[in-house]
Amino acid sequence: MSARVPFIAGNWKLHHNIPAAVALAGQIVDAMEPLARAAGPSKTVEVCIAPVATALYAVAQSVAESELLLAGQNCHHEPQGAFTGEVSPALLRDAGASHCIIGHSERRALFGETDAAIALKLRALLEAGLVPILCVGETLEQRDAGETEGVVIAQLRGALGDLSASALATLIVAYEPVWAIGTGRTASPADAQAVHAAIRAELAASHGDSLAQAVRVLYGGSVKASNAAELLSQPDIDGALVGGASLSSELFVPIIAAAYAVA
Ligand code: 13P
Repeated sequence: MSARVPFIAGNWKLHHNIPAAVALAGQIVDAMEPLARAAGPSKTVEVCIAPVATALYAVAQSVAESELLLAGQNCHHEPQGAFTGEVSPALLRDAGASHCIIGHSERRALFGETDAAIALKLRALLEAGLVPILCVGETLEQRDAGETEGVVIAQLRGALGDLSASALATLIVAYEPVWAIGTGRTASPADAQAVHAAIRAELAASHGDSLAQAVRVLYGGSVKASNAAELLSQPDIDGALVGGASLSSELFVPIIAAAYAVA
């Protein structure tokens, strides 16, 4: 890791109703405090969870006094209007979120989201003052065809477009190889590091070294306690976006502890 503050995020996807979400958020907060105290003031780890949209407000109320950050799992790019079933960035903020995941591969693959749609969401989040967590990642076919970096960089360029470095100051990128999500297969630390370094090099080329050094690039795809420390100790891996292992405190808290250990 580096001077960048490690960021550990739990993407709960379509799991946990309101009581379960409030209970789990409380367990995470209870575990975070002793970890932060033991690490001392010079070591910080940011921890974020993305509950289902219907649980966001209740979770936000229940953890209001804590350092736990909350994210939406998706948003619409329009602030309001005749968009049945959609939620705007401002409404996510209203419910207590400070961050929002966009471009998750499940949204791209199952809901047909394009780079152009993700670019609009990114702009809408920045305008509403939310931190975007932009997901990119290749499929197994693309990896096997040697297209990994090309695919990931095209997704990055497609989302960032002509946004300036100052507009992107808060950006977080999550590299999630599609073949590693929910499969138990993790990219090797060296393979993940290579893609993270390519993402940072692209950011440096497009927006300058200062933004490239500031943006946190998370790894996602079957992150668990047993592989977190090795992944997080790579120089360009600044945190993790965790799916399955974020659904219980027993699985998630050791990943937070691993981030403190390498911070
Ligand atoms: P898993 O950790 O379950 O592989 O999911 C990763 C993910 O999709 C996080 O957004």
